[in-house]
Amino acid sequence: MINRKLVAVLAIAMLAVVLAACGDDAATTTTGGATTTAAQGMIIGVSWNNYNEERWAKWDEPDMKAAIEAAGGTYISTDAGSSEAKQATDVEQLIAQGADALIILAQNGTAILPSVQAALDEGIPVIAYDRLIEDARALYITFDNVEVGRMQARAVFAVAPTGNYVFIKGNSADANADFLFEGQMEVLQAAIDSGAIVNVGESYTDNWLPSVAQTNMEQFLTQNNNDVQAVVASNDGTAGGVITALAAQGLAGIVPVSGQDGDAAALNRVALGTQTVSVWKDARELGKAAGEAAVALASGTALGDLPGTVMFTSPGGNQMVSILLTPVPITKDNLQLVIDATWITVETLCQGVTAGTVDVCG
Ligand code: GAL
Repeated sequence: MINRKLVAVLAIAMLAVVLAACGDDAATTTTGGATTTAAQGMIIGVSWNNYNEERWAKWDEPDMKAAIEAAGGTYISTDAGSSEAKQATDVEQLIAQGADALIILAQNGTAILPSVQAALDEGIPVIAYDRLIEDARALYITFDNVEVGRMQARAVFAVAPTGNYVFIKGNSADANADFLFEGQMEVLQAAIDSGAIVNVGESYTDNWLPSVAQTNMEQFLTQNNNDVQAVVASNDGTAGGVITALAAQGLAGIVPVSGQDGDAAALNRVALGTQTVSVWKDARELGKAAGEAAVALASGTALGDLPGTVMFTSPGGNQMVSILLTPVPITKDNLQLVIDATWITVETLCQGVTAGTVDVCG
């Protein structure tokens, strides 16, 4: 038989724990004159669309998690495995697990909208992480993606100011694909208009898959009898696929290719001379910014009161409160930057590089 007194004691003890946890939410403490807001007990739910690209698990996630935990919060996460349907259930699950704020790397910026609206309607703040989600109540944290596109085009254009260009764009459901292309076109439009360069092939890349980029590139090479002078590829993964296709035709290292993310393999290709540029986005900074913002929002800070924000007008006409970080193009001339930033070791960067061809590789 259950001892009623014991049940009552346990119930009171549990209530005390719950109250203590609530009381600690957004507790303001004064230490040595400085007032800090901690977020004990806050749960931050993070929905990743996949871990295909190197950056998410290696760079974005650890600093995001560390920032949340440093503030006393708890990091929980899901991986949608590139499925927009799974991402919708993932978000529901994160909410069911008690998420006080959500960080979402959208697989599909449109398909995720109902999930985001549901969370916001319940008063759960949402951060559109790296990729735009068209809801003005969400915080948008990313790098300046149009600028990334400009940097990619500038670096390739500097090597190939004339000739046939191929554009390997990103995943069409990711708003970044079009932001990047917009920036690329801004730089190249005048040369296209003058006829100095010709767009001889342009395709989106399903899920940013390197294998898809490779197949598309193979087709563009065949269609043009290999008469291609430059490839503007939108990230390092797709650049890898493109360079495999070029290598099969003896064109790797001859035809300039862009990328982005600072993937280790891509930076090595920059050192080897088969990739012209990898636009580097220090994803550690992005992860940290999102972790800190999520904790602040979960603790009741209003969007407009977050530090370091700017307004961003989205293609859908939303005025988004945003945090926009600055990308840096890495070419063979400034590889030292990623070494100094402890992003890559000299050993990895310089693997297979002939001595004397690149400064940092000796
Ligand atoms: C983009 C992102 C890039 C790259 C790509 C592949 O949205 O901005 O950095 O990682 O996704 O997933």
